Amino acid sequence: ADYDLVIAGGTVVTPADTFRADVGVQGDRIAAIGLGLRGARTIEADGLLVMPGGVDSHCHIEQLRKGGGADEETWTTGSASALAGGTTSVITFSTQFKGGGILAPLAEYHRRAAKAMVDYGFHQIIADATDTVIFEEVPQVVASGVRSLKVFLTYDPVHLDDRQFLRVLAAARRTGALVTVHCENYEAINWRTAALLADGRAAPKYHAWSRPSVVEREATHRAIALAEMVDQPIQVFHVSCPEVAEEIARAKARGLKVWGETCPQYFVLSADHMDRPGFEGAKFMCSPAPRDAAASEGLWRMVRDNVLDIVSSDHSGWSYESPVGKRVHGTGAPFRDIPNGVPGLASRLPILFSEGVTKGRIDACTFVRLTATNPAKLFGLYPRKGTIAPGTDADIVLWDPGKQVVIDNGLMQHIIDYTPYEGLEVTGWPVATLRRGAVVMRDGKVQAEPGSGQFLPRAPYHMIRPTGNVPFGFDASAFRV
Ligand code: URP
Ligand code: ZN
Ligand code: ZN
Ligand code: ZN
Repeated sequence: ADYDLVIAGGTVVTPADTFRADVGVQGDRIAAIGLGLRGARTIEADGLLVMPGGVDSHCHIEQLRKGGGADEETWTTGSASALAGGTTSVITFSTQFKGGGILAPLAEYHRRAAKAMVDYGFHQIIADATDTVIFEEVPQVVASGVRSLKVFLTYDPVHLDDRQFLRVLAAARRTGALVTVHCENYEAINWRTAALLADGRAAPKYHAWSRPSVVEREATHRAIALAEMVDQPIQVFHVSCPEVAEEIARAKARGLKVWGETCPQYFVLSADHMDRPGFEGAKFMCSPAPRDAAASEGLWRMVRDNVLDIVSSDHSGWSYESPVGKRVHGTGAPFRDIPNGVPGLASRLPILFSEGVTKGRIDACTFVRLTATNPAKLFGLYPRKGTIAPGTDADIVLWDPGKQVVIDNGLMQHIIDYTPYEGLEVTGWPVATLRRGAVVMRDGKVQAEPGSGQFLPRAPYHMIRPTGNVPFGFDASAFRV
């Protein structure tokens, strides 16, 4: 035998091509792609697609909560969910709390992630742009391989004002990091929320009323403008509708390094889901809020036009029944006090494949680019992750394109007690997942050792280098301001 393992007779899908071939795996890497390969072990893949393991560049796992404790989703359950859904690498978050630094929390996130079964990296959230954090800690964090910073333009208590946001953009430019941005207008949401509550409109559905798409579009426009002023590349997180994507399209057309992400919830959920009896609507509450069917169809157009580059899960799980989940402030809590976020690590690839490839909106290569190649490229993991080619990590998902599944929470394998996609019918499902050459999921059974996931330090990479165009040729980021 020439290889440890051969995946035989499947249809290989790369970001560029779809073709019938065997894949030879030696150790933890792909060693060959060709016909008639012979391995010590063989996995028959007739009728299956052989695709790169998913790279989920935006998910929240064991995130520390202000006031103590962490997200319900642990590294073991979150990893199991990812692997069950064909995802082999994730980028999660390290937080900062106002008044604190970023080095100590990052060390705690590394300690917790030592139980991971998927490969992982971190984005560093900046919630308090102090001199110490900006000038001393950010350079250390970025040099340690955490090569992306995350800022929120809304949410108490983490949101940054424009001056603080500029300081983060400048720090990223100096250190060679990407900035990812949650774009919604903080003051506008607070104002509308106060008005809704004053009018007695507190039910979950008013979450969407408190933050119409215009607040997202305004903040996206502003984030792009400020990033342009600093000449700092950014990625706009979780774009919910085509009007917001238009801002990104215009930026790209001007030659700016601005990328866009969307998530499955914006393709299949809508504001109507939050308008269910009682507290039920809380299950679908996330920010930005899901819009309507026309917005979802518009997002597909933006995906096909290469305006939106990435589909991540934004997995942010809060159990429905648990006292530390959605009902942390009770089932009568006004929408303002209900935690935001939906779980989606395991459902990301099946929903995108079914709604996208099966229904003819995108081809399989586009699916691979959105879910693996582009996130790997944009976050400095390519080509080790995100494609199928000799020399790359043998992270592979074997996919049955015809398998029909009705999504239920048991299939998700996360710790969260519900999925917002309960009952959704999908065609196309992962039947096996390989992570660095090891079969870690087969027919829904996850078999991996906690701690077998590896930290992925991210070195400087070409894609996020600034363009060199600064207003008047004056680079303000060179100064300690
Ligand atoms: O509602 C959401 N999306 N919660 C998760 C945190 C975030 O804003 O990405
Ligand atoms: Zn966000
Ligand atoms: Zn998020
Ligand atoms: Zn609270």
